[in-house]
Amino acid sequence: MRKTGDGTSEAYPRAMPEGPRVYLDHAATTPPDPAVVEAMLPYLTEIWHNPSSIYVEAQEAAKAIDRARARIAQLIGAADAEEVVFTSGGSESDNLALRGVVAASTRRGKHVITSGVEHHAILDPLEQMEREGVAEVTVLPVRPDGSVDPQAVEDAVREDTVLVSVMHANNEVGALNDIAEIARRVKAKNARTVVHTDAVQSAAHLGVNVDRLGVDLMTFTAHKMYGPRGAGALYVRHGTPLQGQILGGGQERRIRAGTENTAAIVGFARAMEIAAERREADISHERSLQERLIAELPRRVPMLAITGPRDVERRLPGNVSCAVGFVEGESVLLALDLAGIAASSGSACTTGSVEPSHVLVAMGVPEELARGSLRFTLGRMNTEADVDRLLEVLPGIVQRLRALSPIPATEAPAAWAPWLD
Ligand SMILES: Cc1ncc(COP(=O)(O)O)c(C=O)c1O
Repeated sequence: MRKTGDGTSEAYPRAMPEGPRVYLDHAATTPPDPAVVEAMLPYLTEIWHNPSSIYVEAQEAAKAIDRARARIAQLIGAADAEEVVFTSGGSESDNLALRGVVAASTRRGKHVITSGVEHHAILDPLEQMEREGVAEVTVLPVRPDGSVDPQAVEDAVREDTVLVSVMHANNEVGALNDIAEIARRVKAKNARTVVHTDAVQSAAHLGVNVDRLGVDLMTFTAHKMYGPRGAGALYVRHGTPLQGQILGGGQERRIRAGTENTAAIVGFARAMEIAAERREADISHERSLQERLIAELPRRVPMLAITGPRDVERRLPGNVSCAVGFVEGESVLLALDLAGIAASSGSACTTGSVEPSHVLVAMGVPEELARGSLRFTLGRMNTEADVDRLLEVLPGIVQRLRALSPIPATEAPAAWAPWLD
């Protein structure tokens, strides 16, 4: 990407707007907690040495990684700290889980089951693996609220199913899946099938326990829990067939080579610790803001459909997603940005593409309505005033954009009716 004369990139030519900002995009990433930054600093400035080396500073770094591993293992209910494999984040952990299990299971089969609303860090590697001929993939349909039916997973399991990967919480519409029930049914039908869940969005909000959920593999990332970007983990239950995918230095029990990012790993553990300490307070705070938005948005904006579960108990705390008829989600986002509000349409990773979100399409949301998708994800620091601001500016933005559109925003097509209720 080329830089312009004033140092801004051509792809992002707009200056940082002045005035107060409201951040409603916590599912994309979260601001690092000051206590996390404080915990990390010594490992950037003093103990920056390679943890594999022999001298005393390097051993200090290695010990810090061991402590972080033990703490994370304890927080997720792992029997052994060795079952926590550090990676660079959610995408890497997902890729490792899929490729690692399939590569280690060739004698048993190559059938993999997943759902149509998974993150691209699951769907894209699986698509590639199918093209390469190393996997045969069943992509399950989902319910209209974005959740996966455990019975459908059970029905799809076969003798040669080596892996089931279903996300714990959806990043776009916040739908929670009953992973414990899914794992129980999978194991009852085929005890050797490995069960993986992507807990990137849920780990901080809900807390996760690998035994209670009954999974063999679980994906984590630090930057969705007020930790740093560039650190994550894959929980790997002892006995799970898994072949390392990044080979070299032999770090992480030869599953993931590469000099460890000590500071980020320390920050990751601290972030998970803080999330556990604050869980009850965070959940009740985010749920109250979320409930207000879910109730108020459809009242204030005509032809706005809340997507994902209506019942907040079945939805990720803080997640509010909707589809607005007769506007493009991206245009609304730009106008919100100018008004001081940072939000997202669908998943941040696909922002910029004009295709409607694959999640909404899989849920059966009509394509024209899905083009107006918006996602507001609230966090610890959001206030009632932030919600007020969004409720104040969004109706006017939608009204203005509809007035400019060549397509008259008259009657909602009949196909939208079930979504607009
Ligand atoms: C459900 C889910 N899985 C995986 C990822 C990728 O995580 P990372 O950004 O740490 O690679 C994301 C990020 O948005 C996500 O929401």
